Amino acid sequence: MNVLELDDLDAAQVARLLDLALEWKHDPATIPSVLAGQGIALIFEKPSARTRVSTERAVTSLGGEAIVLRGDEVGLGTRERADDVARTLAGYCDAIAARVYDHANLETMAAAVDVPIINLLSDQAHPCQALADVITLREEFGTVDGRRLVFVGDGNNVAASLAFAAALTGFELIVASPSGYDLDEDVVARARNLGASVEVTRDPFEAVKGADAIYADAWFSMGQETEAAPRRLAFADYQVNQQLLDIAGPDAIFLHCLPAHRGEEVTDEVLDGRQSRIWRQAENRLHSARALFAMVCGGVA
Ligand code: CP
Ligand code: NVA
Repeated sequence: MNVLELDDLDAAQVARLLDLALEWKHDPATIPSVLAGQGIALIFEKPSARTRVSTERAVTSLGGEAIVLRGDEVGLGTRERADDVARTLAGYCDAIAARVYDHANLETMAAAVDVPIINLLSDQAHPCQALADVITLREEFGTVDGRRLVFVGDGNNVAASLAFAAALTGFELIVASPSGYDLDEDVVARARNLGASVEVTRDPFEAVKGADAIYADAWFSMGQETEAAPRRLAFADYQVNQQLLDIAGPDAIFLHCLPAHRGEEVTDEVLDGRQSRIWRQAENRLHSARALFAMVCGGVA
């Protein structure tokens, strides 16, 4: 099984994954050594703090061995074709997880080998993040079904995976973006086909009315640094500040996948404020990664 985007899993698998993640979070003594003897290659073409450490810790906690490779040492698609890299690593490892610039490289690897390929973030998707986000919503609200999550900013990789999370777990997603930065139409269509309630809108002040959670991410993602200046202009009215959070009300929570660009997409006041759940959300990357690897590589059903 590959997990390039969250819709590679079905709703029952996601529900089971969330249950396992929370069970092992609360009772670490029950974490099984289902990856004993397994090696998992983790390729990072881009920087990472949360994904790198949480995934390595998750694999280790299941009894597996994580082998971390930087993008420049692998040379994915430059030193060697992505499919050839995958064929080589599949000879040593039981799964390949990768953070890549080009999502197509994940598809190329998945087509070339039988071992699972897991997306640790691409230009199109960040499924591991969305799983941690749903755990955080579930911890907060008990059940996520029918909750209203408003993503303010770029309709990017993180927003795309949240659309599939909405489809598979039942929360309502509203993505408020400036013109030209909407969530991809194909993603919206695919998520709606799976039953998601996903809306794309412009006005962040209207969008956050009635929100249970407001979510922000960077205005420019890794690999888009040269677009920083025009994006700062385009997103100027899309900052999550206390004024915006107050429209949602005192019970709304704030989420951010991190890293945050303090003073750009979100203010210090919101990040460090009473309604912020960002550190719990970051910690949940460990718990969701553990459950994901146990199911995909460890045979846990
Ligand atoms: N949220 C997230 O993926 O963080 P890193 O880029 O630090 O891994
Ligand atoms: N959208 C961001 C997420 C970082 C975790 C990026 O791709 O850089």
